[in-house]
Amino acid sequence: MSERPLKITILGSGGWGLALACTSSRLGHEVTVWSAFSDEIEAIKRTGELKAKLPGVMIPRSVKLTTDISCVSGADIVMIGIPSPYVRSVCEQAKPYMDKTSVLLSTAKGLEDVTLKRMSEIIGEVYPENRIVVMSGPSHAEELGRDIPTAVAVASSDISAAEFVQKAFSDNVLRLYVNSDVIGCEIGGAVKNVIALCCGVLDGLGLGDNSKAALITRGLSEITRLGVALGGKRETFSGLAGLGDLVVTCTSLHSRNYRAGMLIGQGVEPEEAVRRTGTVEGYGCARVTRKLAKKLGVEMPITEELNEILFEGQPVRQGINDLMSRPIGME
Ligand SMILES: NC(=O)c1ccc[n+]([C@@H]2O[C@H](COP(=O)([O-])OP(=O)(O)OC[C@H]3O[C@@H](n4cnc5c(N)ncnc54)[C@H](O)[C@@H]3O)[C@@H](O)[C@H]2O)c1
Repeated sequence: MSERPLKITILGSGGWGLALACTSSRLGHEVTVWSAFSDEIEAIKRTGELKAKLPGVMIPRSVKLTTDISCVSGADIVMIGIPSPYVRSVCEQAKPYMDKTSVLLSTAKGLEDVTLKRMSEIIGEVYPENRIVVMSGPSHAEELGRDIPTAVAVASSDISAAEFVQKAFSDNVLRLYVNSDVIGCEIGGAVKNVIALCCGVLDGLGLGDNSKAALITRGLSEITRLGVALGGKRETFSGLAGLGDLVVTCTSLHSRNYRAGMLIGQGVEPEEAVRRTGTVEGYGCARVTRKLAKKLGVEMPITEELNEILFEGQPVRQGINDLMSRPIGME
C-alpha cells in the first residue's frame, strides 16, 4: 500500500523479525535482515528457513541477509526485532550508520532493568532525532509467518510516522491500526508477558477455565492501573495492544512466557524453566514491573505474587492461596 517500494532493514533474525521480513518482501519492499549471530544467517542461507526460530516458514530469496550492521544506512524503516534486554546495545552498535530520516520501528516487548524505561524511551535516548513508532498487539510470529490474518496497533507521538508504517506493512494478511498512545501500547505489550507467565502456572497446576478467565481479567485491571498511572489512556487497554495481546499470550503454547509458566506450575524451578524455554521476557519484566508499581504506588497483586514465586521461593499453591485470600471488595 506504500506509494513506492521502501528500503526496510530488520534488526534481529528471530521469529518476529523473519515473519515481518516475509510480510514486507511480499509487499514488494527491499528487505535486509541483520543478525549478530552468523550461525542464524548461515542457516537461513543454507536451508531457506530458520528452523530453530520459525520452522516451516521459507524466507523469500529476495531478502538480503547480513551480519554487517552498517546495513541500516539509507533505510526508510529500521525495525528493531531484538529481545528487550538487548535493544539498547544493538541500537548503540547501529548508531554510526543510522540516518536521522529513518523511521525506527520498535517491536520489542519489555521494560529495561534498573532504568525501568520503555523500549521507545531507550531508542529515543540513542536516537533523539529519529521518528519512533511502536508496534504491539496479538501476533505470534508462527502464525503471521503462515499468512494467518493478524491485526496489530502502531503507535507514535508523530501520527504521520505511524501512518507511514501502517501503509508500509498492511495487506490482506497483516492489518495495522494507528494509535497515538505510545505509553499504553508499550505497557500493554510488556506487562502481558508477566500475566501470561502466571496463566501458564495456573495451567501447569491443572486449574480450570474459571481461574484462567479471572486471572486474565484481573491481570488486565492491574496492567491498566499501571499504564494509566504512567500516562497511558485507559481505552488502549481494551484494544489490540491491551486485551488483544493479553488474550493471545495467556492462551497459547506459542508463547514462551506461558510455556515457562506451565513448567513452573508443574514443579520445575523458575530459573530452570526459563533456561529450558529460551527468551522469556516476562521473567525479567515481572521484577521491573514490581519496581515500577512500587515507585508509582500502584497495586499489582498478581505481579507481586508472581515475583514471590519467581524470586523468593514462594510455592505456587501458596501464591494462588494468597491471591484468593486478599480482602474482598468492589470490582
Ligand atoms: N515472536 C513473536 O511472535 C513476537 C511477536 C511480536 C513481538 N515480538 C517481540 O519481538 C522481539 C523479538 O522477538 P523474537 O521472538 O523474534 O525473539 P528471539 O528470541 O527469537 O530473538 C530475536 C533475535 O534477536 C537477536 N538477538 C538475540 N539476542 C541478541 C543479543 N544479545 N545481541 C544481539 N542480537 C540478539 C537474534 O538475531 C535473535 O534471533 C521481542 O521483544 C518480542 O517480545 C515477538
